[in-house]
Amino acid sequence: MPAAAASAPQDRPIGVFDSGVGGLTVLHELLVQLPREDFVYLADTARFPYGPRPRQELERFALEVAELLLRRRVKLLVVACNSATAAALPALQERMLQTTLGVDVVGVVRPGAVHAVAATRNGRVGVLGTEATVASGAYLEAMAAVDPHVDVVQVACPDLADIIEGGFPFDQRVVDTVRRYTRPLVEAGVDAVVLGCTHYPLVRPMLQRMLGPEVAIISSGAPLARQVGHILGARGLAAAREREGEYSFLTTGDPEAFRALGTHFLQMPLGEVRRAGPAPTPSEVTPA
Ligand code: DGL
Repeated sequence: MPAAAASAPQDRPIGVFDSGVGGLTVLHELLVQLPREDFVYLADTARFPYGPRPRQELERFALEVAELLLRRRVKLLVVACNSATAAALPALQERMLQTTLGVDVVGVVRPGAVHAVAATRNGRVGVLGTEATVASGAYLEAMAAVDPHVDVVQVACPDLADIIEGGFPFDQRVVDTVRRYTRPLVEAGVDAVVLGCTHYPLVRPMLQRMLGPEVAIISSGAPLARQVGHILGARGLAAAREREGEYSFLTTGDPEAFRALGTHFLQMPLGEVRRAGPAPTPSEVTPA
């Protein structure tokens, strides 16, 4: 490919990030819905988990990760992490506007919230999320903007992302943990539940069994991927090539550990995973 064509904005990759493997559930939808695009996924695994961290720290992490992806010349940024979206979306949008291209930033909260409000029949919606996401009230705000009369029941699940990030096999401890978190939603009689953490689609069968077959389980991946497609179309940034795009991975942690776990979760081969970014300081590695 000639050098000029390689740097055309349409040919640049889409950047996607999460604290770990959870965002692969979003990347999976993007790969399926936008097969011609290139993607670069960054997992900030050295600083996982994001869920127990304060808003200011998450905002700083998100801005640092965004810089690493900007160096890869991304044409659009997907925040495939609810905790980072809830804490840092406005700051990320402001930063991306300062880039030469004016890179758009899409987060996972709004697409899931809109979808859930459309899905509920009885007006009662549940949200499962990390402590950071639940405390931010981001889902309450996003749903109220669509329909202020929907009743939202939020449940913070402090250790669920950690257990999932710990990998297979899922044992009785996972079943007990998931059951504990679904109980308040069953008691509240919600008929739609948003998975407000991108790790949770990985335990979706368990959630569906415990919530009951008539409850709609909503994850942000599919509606977010549609939104990304619309933005690329509207901005004239969709990849023009005929062939399938490529995808690659960066992690701030151990590349081998990420590759082993990520292959299960993406349900596609991962290929090479490279280390990115400066080594985090010891106080950044463990949440306060
Ligand atoms: N996957 C992330 C989210 O959607 C967070 C998991 C974590 O780092 O605590 O919130």
